[in-house]
Amino acid sequence: MYVITSKSDTQTNNLGFKIGSHCFPSTIITINGQLGAGKTELTKGIAKGLGINNNVTSPSFAILNIYSGRLPLYHFDLYRLSSAEEIDELGFNEYFDGDGVCAIEWPNNLPLNRKEYLEINISGSGDDDRTITLTAYGICHTGLLEDIIISMEGNK
Ligand SMILES: Nc1ncnc2c1ncn2[C@@H]1O[C@H](COP(=O)(O)OP(=O)(O)O)[C@@H](O)[C@H]1O
Ligand SMILES: [Mg+2]
Repeated sequence: MYVITSKSDTQTNNLGFKIGSHCFPSTIITINGQLGAGKTELTKGIAKGLGINNNVTSPSFAILNIYSGRLPLYHFDLYRLSSAEEIDELGFNEYFDGDGVCAIEWPNNLPLNRKEYLEINISGSGDDDRTITLTAYGICHTGLLEDIIISMEGNK
């Protein structure tokens, strides 16, 4: 587990950049936090780290936005998702098992039947500093978290 404080959107974006730079095919990142916590801001950084130049926006009305970079980025916002049936219909599993990076806002609205992923929790909103906690599950995502930590600590 790794905990850092972010004092600005730029710092959160920078963490995202480090994450995106180290992602591997089939990385799954769950991003928890209340409205305005900075989940989309973090995802913008992940996109940048994947070499994506498009402007990443909140996909609240689309549920999924796809961007192409070093690896494809599948950016989910499951805020409006309520039932498991809805999820089956949407066929998300093909993305979760795919060759890209899944960044999932509001992951708890979905029964994520995965054992290996990077869980991110952002606490705080508005003008507060954010406490960002990263927890890795599975060997590959643990390796990813180690790379992220090395890269963050090297910046100090
Ligand atoms: N430390 C911080 N980290 C992330 N965002 C911050 C921070 N401080 C202020 N903000 C602001 O909070 C808002 C976060 O919005 P957004 O990323 O869309 O949140 P979410 O996707 O969690 O609803 C942005 O307006 C951003 O500028
Ligand atoms: Mg958002």
